[in-house]
Amino acid sequence: MKKNTLIAVALLFGSVVSVFGQNKVPVYLDDSKPLKERVEDALSKMTLEEKIAMCHAQSKFSSPGVPRLGIPENWMTDGPHGIRTEVLWDEWSQAGWTNDSCTAFPALTCLAATWNRDMASLYGNSIGQEARYRNKNVLLGPGVNIYRSPLNGRNFEYMGEDPFLSGQMVVPYIKGVQQNGVAACVKHFALNNQETDRNTVNVNVDDRTLYEIYLPAFKAAVQEGGALAIMGSYNKYKGQQCCHNEFLLKDILRKEWGFEGVVISDWGGVHDLNQAIHNGLDMEFGTWTNGLSWGTSNAYDNYYLAQPYLKLIKEGKVGTEELDEKVRRILRLSFLTTMNRNRPFGSFATKEHALAGRKIAEEGIVLLQNKNNILPIDLNITKKVAVIGENAIKMMTVGGGSSSLKAKYEVSPLDGLKKRIGSQAEIVYARGYVGDASGSYNGVVSGQNLAEKRSAAELQAEAISVAKSADIVIFIGGLNKSDHQDAEGADRKGLELPYDQDKLVSELVKVNKNLVFVNISGNAVAMPWVNEVPGIVQGWFLGTEAGNALAEVLVGDVNPSGKLTFTFPVKLTDNGAHALGDFPGKNNEQTYREGLFVGYRYADKQKIKPLFSFGHGLSYTTFEYGKVTADKKELTADDKITFNVEVKNTGKRDGAEVVQLYITDLKSSLPRPVKELKGFEKVALKAGETKTVSITVDKSALSFFDDKKHAWVAEPGDFEALIGASSSDIKTKVAFKLK
Ligand code: BGC
Repeated sequence: MKKNTLIAVALLFGSVVSVFGQNKVPVYLDDSKPLKERVEDALSKMTLEEKIAMCHAQSKFSSPGVPRLGIPENWMTDGPHGIRTEVLWDEWSQAGWTNDSCTAFPALTCLAATWNRDMASLYGNSIGQEARYRNKNVLLGPGVNIYRSPLNGRNFEYMGEDPFLSGQMVVPYIKGVQQNGVAACVKHFALNNQETDRNTVNVNVDDRTLYEIYLPAFKAAVQEGGALAIMGSYNKYKGQQCCHNEFLLKDILRKEWGFEGVVISDWGGVHDLNQAIHNGLDMEFGTWTNGLSWGTSNAYDNYYLAQPYLKLIKEGKVGTEELDEKVRRILRLSFLTTMNRNRPFGSFATKEHALAGRKIAEEGIVLLQNKNNILPIDLNITKKVAVIGENAIKMMTVGGGSSSLKAKYEVSPLDGLKKRIGSQAEIVYARGYVGDASGSYNGVVSGQNLAEKRSAAELQAEAISVAKSADIVIFIGGLNKSDHQDAEGADRKGLELPYDQDKLVSELVKVNKNLVFVNISGNAVAMPWVNEVPGIVQGWFLGTEAGNALAEVLVGDVNPSGKLTFTFPVKLTDNGAHALGDFPGKNNEQTYREGLFVGYRYADKQKIKPLFSFGHGLSYTTFEYGKVTADKKELTADDKITFNVEVKNTGKRDGAEVVQLYITDLKSSLPRPVKELKGFEKVALKAGETKTVSITVDKSALSFFDDKKHAWVAEPGDFEALIGASSSDIKTKVAFKLK
């Protein structure tokens, strides 16, 4: 609207308002200007109280706008796997709406395992549409904390152990979300790699490890993804809580990376007024509202960034400079989300979203082992299928903490299999063990009655007899979303499968050697029976379409193409954090003694053979790699180098392979990992087809973080480009130099 028209409308409206007994002409925002000016315009019209109000919550998931100026409230939602159910204003319990059942997308672990940037984009766009439809303008996700230990209860919400892979997958997710006028809030910044003592633990990590392992995905999210928001984590770093951490928020995020977005606290993560004012935090959520451990209700005025902050300003003890900065950033977010006239309207719980989730699930499922080609299930010769295990029937979208969902529906693996093959083969089910019979979170109930009166011995006996009579046994087990499994708030107690599943698997395979173990989890588990069991599938938490996607892979409608995004160690001490460290720490101190050597970097260094390696994943077809070539022998500092390799599908089925590029620095002044992932491409190949895969890198792929210089350094010298089908299956390599 032009200024003159605006004033005319304002005057007209003002006179209308005065008819109703008001005499002030309303103030209007001039929206004809560029973003920066509009922000300043709005800021200049706000009172001190209105500014303070914007910086903290008014309910569990919302913060005030400025009603007088027509600036809407901000509404947040978890994230990251679907749009959380509506909760009551000041309580965690669900509000009881009947129109908030969402699409449950696969967990981010599964998304990352697709190694397909298009899938991340599809995911982001789909969940962004759901958030938009539900009128949320901030999605609390995605999470990119690095998989440091297989015991971290929240690994399922993240994208694995590799900083490059996480960075590549998070960027399209964010762009997908944000194209809907919804801000992505990347979490949890930073070093939130365990749940034990998460509110109090102080993480000690050297700068190199921080910059090379724990920060790159956040940096990519901010700089390449353009994330509009970031969430501070609960833990401490250098003795300061991360939600108001001078080093992370001011020095790195704002100064080094130039982040202009909003820093949002994790719920209840603010502990210090002075630091909250000065160290780069913008919005405070979850403090003192009975969310975590304390119990004052409707205490939003008591938040650090509420009355206490206002009081300091009024007493002249702090100025308003920091406050204005915070409000500027929040206004910017509002202008780009709720006040963006061009944003679409969104859509919710649609068939398209269910199918998007299914596609992602199909591409993320990982075939870990397939001896004697036990999979896909051959329906020509299979008359009877025994399905065993609690996870074949248990709903996994309810539970696990803040990512818990009220899903419109969830297809269980058993139902998926019945639907797909029930008319061709007999399916017999036995639960085999009782794990977690509960199924509720904040008032959302799974509705399943999993109560079981029979003894463990009876259940086991039934499973064995069912297995004996079948042509093939599909054991669907793993972890679940209850405490000390894949769940927020606590870590796992060990690497072993819970509920005596190992014993059951070993007994079953004695009576029927055609056994496939499907591991439903977001974490690695130990598999002491790995040599006895021919088929192993990593089935993740797959959301709404879980059972359908799994069935398609098991029968071969879909040829698996997922690859692991973290290492499965044989035993806990094969993981650096456990071999060298004291995970989860003592006296609230946790030191990352393994340094850079996380995941495959540790396995490589110690020459440990993992149970399953990072990047591993089989297919129902086979691929042959040609010899990798480089387009030049020598690279100069501002140059790029491209590696080309031919990949052929040598089997009888169409399939897709993830071609991985690792770089080795042959000689360097500082110790470096044996190799590091620096590129990948997922390539679809028809049976018999050959394609050339090209991966281009620049010197950033050769660099390490020199902590003395506090800079990324690429040292001239000899390097090798390794092309592999996993981190332990290198097919071909080529040497090159950096000048
Ligand atoms: C979690 C966040 C989540 C927030 C709001 C916290 O407990 O750490 O990831 O977004 O709650 O539910």
